[in-house]
Amino acid sequence: MRHLLSAGDLSLAEITEICDLAEEMSAVQSRPVKKLPALRGRTVVNLFFEDSTRTRSSFEIAGKWLSADVINVSAKGSSVSKGESLRDTVMTVAAMGVDALVIRHMASGAPWQVTNWIGAHVLNAGDGTHEHPTQALLDAFTMRRHFRGLDGGDLAGRTVAIVGDITHSRVARSNVLLLQTLGAKVVLVAPPTLLPSGVDTWPVSVSTDLDAVLPAADAVMMLRVQRERMSGGYFPTAREYTIGYGLTRDRLATLRPGVPICHPGPMNRGLEISAEAADAASSLVLDQVAAGVAVRMAVLYQLLGGADEMPLARVREVV
Ligand code: CP
Repeated sequence: MRHLLSAGDLSLAEITEICDLAEEMSAVQSRPVKKLPALRGRTVVNLFFEDSTRTRSSFEIAGKWLSADVINVSAKGSSVSKGESLRDTVMTVAAMGVDALVIRHMASGAPWQVTNWIGAHVLNAGDGTHEHPTQALLDAFTMRRHFRGLDGGDLAGRTVAIVGDITHSRVARSNVLLLQTLGAKVVLVAPPTLLPSGVDTWPVSVSTDLDAVLPAADAVMMLRVQRERMSGGYFPTAREYTIGYGLTRDRLATLRPGVPICHPGPMNRGLEISAEAADAASSLVLDQVAAGVAVRMAVLYQLLGGADEMPLARVREVV
């Protein structure tokens, strides 16, 4: 694997390998000294053209815990605000001697374009409404861990309900691709105006009736309502949305006991998810955040050849 651009590029074996490696890496989080010398001398640049809390900081922590040098460049505060183009920005950063570029951009497809301009490894940290592959990997890792703890099984055959603003969700698109490869059954639930055209060709079931779907779900993934990406067309009011598609306290009670609740964050509490659901014992929201570091460590270790410096056997000895 040279780049990580799409969840659809990953085979079952590759997903499994990344999740297994992330399990090993996650042990670092409980050590007093959270450093492995696997990526000493490597430079990772986080180039973010859109806001981020989780993805940017977890890529930064992941790189640092692997002993890489990590530099953050945001559109705000960089020469992008003076009108510098994406190509010139990327070429400028790459000219400084970068081994991996983690990029988030508002244009779908931008990370693919970047691979044509530079020799460094490129990791897609979210491109427009298109894809967010490391989010899907950390979601799969989190749910896999949950189901293994529950009954020893994986995601194959489980029903995962992905609920909300599917149209604008790169998280949904990457999760559909990854969960399909893992053999899970995906049900997308959304108001008709937040279902993308062509969704009937996706490898999923589609419903507009959340109450009909919840009782049969093995896991529920709530999505953020992305008001900032909505223009034109009819979208429900906040109140209409919560009544029809919010994971309210009443709906929480219709889930089978212990069914895990996921949300990629940031959450609109009181809109798509109630405080009761976000903070429920069955909520995996903070587990997802923690998994983000471990999964991104695994991906950076793999892409940047961390095993050359620190073989996995040595990682196991240390953690
Ligand atoms: N889930 C996610 O991508 O969150 P951030 O926008 O905070 O990175």
